[in-house]
Amino acid sequence: MLAGKRLLLIIGGGIAAYKALDLIRQARRAGATVTPVLTRAAEEFVTPLSASALAAEKVYRDLFDLTDEAEMGHIELSRSADLVVVAPATADLMGKMAGGLANDLASTLLMATDTPVLIAPAMNVRMWEHPATQRNLATLRGDGVKVVGPDAGEMACGEFGPGRLSAPEAILAAIEAHFADGPLTGRHVLVTSGPTHEPIDPVRYIANRSSGQQGKDIAAALRDLGARVSFVTGPADVAPPEGVEVHRVETAAEMLRAVEAALPADAAVFAAAVADWRVTDAASSKIKKDGSGALPTLSFAENPDILATVSKGAQRPKLVVGFAAETDDVIAHATAKRARKGCDWILANDVSPATGIMGGTENAVTLISEEGAENWPRMGKDAVAARLAARIAEALA
Ligand code: C5P
Repeated sequence: MLAGKRLLLIIGGGIAAYKALDLIRQARRAGATVTPVLTRAAEEFVTPLSASALAAEKVYRDLFDLTDEAEMGHIELSRSADLVVVAPATADLMGKMAGGLANDLASTLLMATDTPVLIAPAMNVRMWEHPATQRNLATLRGDGVKVVGPDAGEMACGEFGPGRLSAPEAILAAIEAHFADGPLTGRHVLVTSGPTHEPIDPVRYIANRSSGQQGKDIAAALRDLGARVSFVTGPADVAPPEGVEVHRVETAAEMLRAVEAALPADAAVFAAAVADWRVTDAASSKIKKDGSGALPTLSFAENPDILATVSKGAQRPKLVVGFAAETDDVIAHATAKRARKGCDWILANDVSPATGIMGGTENAVTLISEEGAENWPRMGKDAVAARLAARIAEALA
């Protein structure tokens, strides 16, 4: 399964470090070459010699000397692998990664690498549940770092709960899943999701109703087919999926900037419910009631149409997909919208209150393309996403 794959295995300093030795053995048996890197703390738990013997490779240590630099600089070392695996990923290592520190060999490699990174966290349950660790975890996921585990169970320290390093078999399975080719492997897909918030003053805004669920499911489905996904999201109710690059924005103008910065892409799906208008001259301090009964007047400017801008732009992806949430004459409106926006497909849905689709878990869509209108049966938003992702894979093949 892993024949020819090169893993750089960073072993952090924790009681679970001994399991990393078994991971080396199992990964090699699956055909991978493993270059171990030991943090200084890891050497308190396992010896460089045992890691080196099991890997049949030179071990890189924090106490590395100039000879190593001459043989292979840390930049080169960090990029020589197909995947960087951190196991066990301690609270300290996760903190350094999330904060962008590079003050030892392991953290420097992690900062310098342009290779995908998979971490297998392991630490005491209180440390795992600490808000700082959970914050760091969210940051790392947002950076596209993949995460396996931790498991829940009895810990070496006698406490019980999540924090145990995943079994080497489970880490190996995550490594294999990373390399499993999907129909969108090597493709870059952009997804917009959620609402945008357009400020009136520092505490008030206008927005569309959008949970962000459909956009999240689409990003996850594209990821599952192997795509690299850039996920540009407004302030949605649901958290972004794991394993995608997250770009958080508030306003339509910020969303357009983030979208343009993420291009080029092979395909783009615009699932965001972008506010059509923004308030011109949003107040910089809170608008106050002055007791006179006078009402504030808002003036509006039209927001950029992100879908139309990208569809007609110089960096147009090969396939551009938009959404049309309509309450009447769904197909006629959506067909006209496809032409007006210049996109390839429109997924049209009837969001009239009677359907219960808005904010619900199901969706009933019609795919409008050059070939005409295709009704999809009512199904879960995740099933709509899987079907759309499969169709995108077909169209890009
Ligand atoms: O015009 P309408 O808002 O109905 O169009 C919906 C489609 O256009 C969706 O795909 C939405 O993400 C996209 N859109 C956009 N930028 C806007 C408005 C809508 O990308 N300003």
